[in-house]
Amino acid sequence: MNFEIILAGQRFANPLVLASGTFSYGLRYTHVIDRVGAIVTKGITVSGRAGNPPPRIWDTAETVVNSVGLENVGLERFSQEILPSLRFSTPVYVNLAGVTTDDFAMMLDSLGKEERVSGFELNLSCPNVKEGGQSIGQSASSVAEVTSVCRKLTAKPLWVKLTSNFCDVRETAVSAAEAGADAVVLLNTLSALLIDAGQRHPFLGAGSGGLSGPAIKPYVLYVVREVSKVIDTPIIASGGVVSGLDVIQYLLAGASLVQVGSVNLQDPEACLRILAEIEKWLNERDLKTLADLIGKLED
Ligand SMILES: Cc1cc2nc3c(=O)[nH]c(=O)nc-3n(C[C@H](O)[C@H](O)[C@H](O)COP(=O)(O)O)c2cc1C
Repeated sequence: MNFEIILAGQRFANPLVLASGTFSYGLRYTHVIDRVGAIVTKGITVSGRAGNPPPRIWDTAETVVNSVGLENVGLERFSQEILPSLRFSTPVYVNLAGVTTDDFAMMLDSLGKEERVSGFELNLSCPNVKEGGQSIGQSASSVAEVTSVCRKLTAKPLWVKLTSNFCDVRETAVSAAEAGADAVVLLNTLSALLIDAGQRHPFLGAGSGGLSGPAIKPYVLYVVREVSKVIDTPIIASGGVVSGLDVIQYLLAGASLVQVGSVNLQDPEACLRILAEIEKWLNERDLKTLADLIGKLED
């Protein structure tokens, strides 16, 4: 049975990608990392960040709302301490969280030559102070600018992770594709508010957060399908995957790779089960090649 996917000239053993922020930097559970197609590391910023005040996370079986606030070790410690400690050969994509184009450029410049880095995922969802708190990912022209600057700085695969919060993600996806992204990642978390009614106050320490988990899957499936109609650039899905069937559905909708996120918080070995479920699904239908399913949803 062939689970292999080729994307932007790079080979992935299977379509599963560990989503940023849900598998830390890849220092633990390496027996799981060994089995997936790629890992995206926790988003890093130019300087380290302590993250948001607590509470930072709220979850049920269907939903997670987090406001971790990009807690991370920063660029310098990431390249000096984390990268040399990685003990697996699975491709590593580094999630870069910039507030300005210069932030992205500086991080790419510094990490671009690191052999251990297979490629980059640009997280364009951070609030851009220059534009009154609007994130880069909410504006098609800002997405184009950051993507084209980054494209010039690296020949390594560049994935652009988009938001659909208060913007038309079909437009930002076209911008990213035209500016040279190797893939667009759909989607980052959806903006969310939790309220402590007794206190008449937001529940999360940061005020609001990002929604993820199975509750967002039907929406993200729809977005993947719609965006696949307007770009030829590969799509990487990210939203609510908990089973092998979820992965198959995303491939049919047009995704080439599928990220696995929130479920890792409950079960860091979830990907092993998901791979077994995909194999069973293919076996039951006497199908041999997973890549043959990509974009094969019929109207
Ligand atoms: C606790 C937590 C932390 C996250 N941190 C990041 C991050 O640092 N950078 C990023 O681009 N996405 C981050 N995400 C978003 C996930 O990578 C993923 O895109 C999103 O959760 C949707 O997928 P899921 O429903 O499978 O979790 C985070 C999500 C969670 C739940």
